Amino acid sequence: MSRLVVVGSVNIDATSYVDAFPQPGETIHSHGHRIALGGKGANQAIAAHLCSADVEFLARLGDDAAADVARAAFARFGLPAGAVATVPGTPTGVAQITVAASGENTIVVTAGANAAIGADLIAAEHERIAAADLVLTQGELPVPTIESLAAACRAAGTRFALNLAPPVGVAAAAVAIADPLVVNVHEARAVGIGAALSDEAPAEAWRDAAASVVGDLARSIVVTLGARGAVAADADGSWVVAAPEVEAVDTTGAGDAATGALAAMLAEGRSLPEAVRIAVAAGAIAVQSRGTVDSYAGRADVLALADRTELR
Ligand code: RIB
Ligand code: NA
Repeated sequence: MSRLVVVGSVNIDATSYVDAFPQPGETIHSHGHRIALGGKGANQAIAAHLCSADVEFLARLGDDAAADVARAAFARFGLPAGAVATVPGTPTGVAQITVAASGENTIVVTAGANAAIGADLIAAEHERIAAADLVLTQGELPVPTIESLAAACRAAGTRFALNLAPPVGVAAAAVAIADPLVVNVHEARAVGIGAALSDEAPAEAWRDAAASVVGDLARSIVVTLGARGAVAADADGSWVVAAPEVEAVDTTGAGDAATGALAAMLAEGRSLPEAVRIAVAAGAIAVQSRGTVDSYAGRADVLALADRTELR
């Protein structure tokens, strides 16, 4: 099995389902609420684990009841949590989420224990990082931690994947070794990919924008386009992957389903376009039911849908 190290956030997601987002000063009723495991790190680790990667998840929880919810979810999915430690006197990360009838969401994250993942942890985990086929992280960790992790991967010769969500200001040297850098269109523009492109610009325009900066900005690039799929570029070429048409119920964490699957497939040695095709399928499954990890599919279902996903 391929070894994937995910260094990332854990949040407890408190999600309200509404018809439309409230305006400032407005009070509205939801028609449903759920408390469940989230956090881009945890979501991606579980997505990769469901795709059969051998995942080591490095994360931090608070010493509160929310941590019990997180640990129970890790156990339910069979995600090894030996490298998930408790930070005394600190709350677990929380995400306040609102999902509208359109399937779109707004998210406010409070870092809690995730903020305690420091450069010291990266230094202590040098051997694990060196032994990995791929190391994956996201923008929900402190910036110096992301930069230390990138430097540790470069020193160890380990492939480094960076999902810059949210698009925090990571040093160019850290982004430069990302292989791939994974961003949505908002994050893409923030880091200088397709600055002049609208969300609705043709996929081919996003592909060409990624291709025009790949090699300089990052070693390889994946831009996710939501319901339209994704584009990718590396030193060998650039591609558009069109998503299968599905009905979106809740897009929360769909990008994480895709990124986790992508990392799992790259870690097992698949090419970037093949891995992106599988990632797009994983995301398309996740949007079809509520929640993040509870809406993710296993390897067989993801690969089956990927077979019906167009690459051009
Ligand atoms: O990407 C979705 C995730 O973002 C949610 O699970 C929430 O916790 C935030 O981290
Ligand atoms: Na979902």
